[in-house]
Amino acid sequence: MKVEIAPSILSADFTRLGEDVQAVERGGATIIHCDVMDGHFVPNLTIGLPVVKSLSRATQLPLDTHLMISEPGRYAEQFVEAGASMVSVHVEIDPHLNRTLDAIRKKGAQAGIVINPATPLSALEEALPFADFVLIMSVNPGFGGQKFIPTSLDKVRRLRRMIVERGLPTRIEIDGGIDRTNIAELAAAGVEIFVAGTSVFGGGDPARGVRELLEASTAVTSDK
Ligand code: DX5
Ligand code: ZN
Repeated sequence: MKVEIAPSILSADFTRLGEDVQAVERGGATIIHCDVMDGHFVPNLTIGLPVVKSLSRATQLPLDTHLMISEPGRYAEQFVEAGASMVSVHVEIDPHLNRTLDAIRKKGAQAGIVINPATPLSALEEALPFADFVLIMSVNPGFGGQKFIPTSLDKVRRLRRMIVERGLPTRIEIDGGIDRTNIAELAAAGVEIFVAGTSVFGGGDPARGVRELLEASTAVTSDK
């Protein structure tokens, strides 16, 4: 399976966002991850529609908007209009998840379901066929720079099994605490898209950050 790195701009330098995005693109990133937080669903405020709109003019890469907001159904389509090609919605917050996922797809974007560390995979059962990808949170959402929760690896394996058993084409994305030490094992377990903030932007050279993750992702693990 092909590994894709989706740098999270939450850890970028907001005074030079365009340049940081170009740097990760040079390093081999193929998706840009945008964390939208509203201070209600998660205890932090970040960016919204205007930033996504500006970014869509600054890069050709697909924009992946991770909605950590209380009323995702109300805003999801607007993010597609602003330039997002992937929009993901938390299973914990949307009582009409299938409708929201459908609406995202009808607008021409890929629809994703996000699942928090404490939410069991059974919460995905009914909505899975409506989604193009599932985003497994490997930290509790709200902040960059947190530590990877180790039980997420087994969750990926179980989700992979669920997808294969049902014969679905659903892709798996992971977000939170991804670095060179855990990427290979997660790739072997079935993750295709890796969101990474600190490990890409934390070292001062975002292009190198992406390259190092891509290199580390192919390391042989006992899982293969
Ligand atoms: C957390 C966000 C993540 C975060 C990842 O709520 O969804 O995308 O920016 O940052 P790192 O890679 O530093 O854990
Ligand atoms: Zn995110």
